Amino acid sequence: MLTNKKITTPYKIKMVELITTRSREEREQHIREAGYNTFLLKSEDVQYDLLTDSGTAAMSDRQWAGMMLGDEAYAGSRNYYHLEAAVQQHYGYKYMVPTHQGRGAEHILSRMLIKPGQLVPGNMYFTTTRAHQELAGGTFADVITDEAYDPGNTFPFKGNIDLRKLENLIARHGAENIAYLSIATTVNMAGGQPISLSNLKQVRALTARYNIRIVHDMARVAENAYMIQQQESGYENHSVAQIIKEICSLTDAATMSGKKDALVNIGGLLALNEHALYEEAINLAVLFEGLHTYGGMAGRDMEAKAIGIAESVQDVHIQARVQQVHYLGNKLIAAGVPVVKPIGTHGVYIDATAFYPHIPQHQFPAQTLTAELYINGGLRTMERGIVSAGRDKQTGDHMYPRLELVRLTIPHRVYTKDHMDDIADIVIDTYHQREKVKGLGMMHEPRHLRFFQARFERL
Ligand code: F0G
Repeated sequence: MLTNKKITTPYKIKMVELITTRSREEREQHIREAGYNTFLLKSEDVQYDLLTDSGTAAMSDRQWAGMMLGDEAYAGSRNYYHLEAAVQQHYGYKYMVPTHQGRGAEHILSRMLIKPGQLVPGNMYFTTTRAHQELAGGTFADVITDEAYDPGNTFPFKGNIDLRKLENLIARHGAENIAYLSIATTVNMAGGQPISLSNLKQVRALTARYNIRIVHDMARVAENAYMIQQQESGYENHSVAQIIKEICSLTDAATMSGKKDALVNIGGLLALNEHALYEEAINLAVLFEGLHTYGGMAGRDMEAKAIGIAESVQDVHIQARVQQVHYLGNKLIAAGVPVVKPIGTHGVYIDATAFYPHIPQHQFPAQTLTAELYINGGLRTMERGIVSAGRDKQTGDHMYPRLELVRLTIPHRVYTKDHMDDIADIVIDTYHQREKVKGLGMMHEPRHLRFFQARFERL
């Protein structure tokens, strides 16, 4: 069980950003003009922006002070060395290559480690991660535990790998046809669900037998570590910082979007333990990201990130963060709104299939719900269902994922409890009006990561 100990918000507000409001008629027009895609709305037309926790954090006064210490030298910026030290100290990886954001690291890593035709098993796909695996000629294979597909199942570690699925995959295809195992902490597409350390240790033992590397997608490793501290026996007296180090120590390399846990508005990194791989990575970095001591980031941004990493591993920070998400989730559950359980760490995920049972998946129930939430209350959310899943490379048909979700993602340190109450009211009101809502048809479909730019019309 999660601790009931209430902690008060461990920061106060020094600067505010005014929120704009629009009338219902204006919102109807804006979402129509945006092709019913919340990615295509203008931010100033949004009242509550729960599109993502990515790059939307409020930085601390210390991070802003760090921005003034930016050393914008082309080579050997002091901020690069600070970031490298932060990665070594808090995560324990030996080598670090800065990248412009997480997908920059995914690109380099996929190019280095995937041979065309190889499989990349993982605990559920993530959109950009899988896209880079495919661009490198690989095929993603899902080996997440079955509980992850059941929105009502309250298993606390729905991010776990199913060892039997993984072992069968290795037996069927041969270890030489597995590029590496991809582990995400937490699993975004499953609803922000953590992996346990006991599972990761077993996975490590299994992959070690076959000499298969583990690559860690650590965008939200602190949130995952907090859930281990709260729910995994044996870890209740460990600090979040200690648990993070232990997770990282069980993996061989990592890609990280700095825009989530690490509390910055831009930036990513690739972390490695093998020197030969590091040499190859910095060689690719100069082609695609920039010199290996900035990799697409300004010096000031590397400084803010080094400070953000240190702030993100503090128990009080991460506890307040996850408690805010759970406060919203519990309000929705109490009102009967179908929410994925357990509540995620970075957002509350609504089960759109249960919300709109009368809308078939090919009419995009989750996409429809994102549009309705915007119309009803200026609330911007993200589809994580059939649109995000894309098309099957072989058949050309939609992928039809088993989870058809809408994510209410909470930016770090941005909204207050008062906002959470208002947001809950918007969702509950939308739920009460659910029966008269119709689905959408897709009118424009981009080739890559279609959810970002697809356009829809009302049926
Ligand atoms: N891995 C995970 C688990 C992510 O959630 C993201 C980004 C990435 C990798 C890619 O990182 O954006 O810095 O290139 N997720 C954002 C989101 C977009 O809204 O969940 P990036």
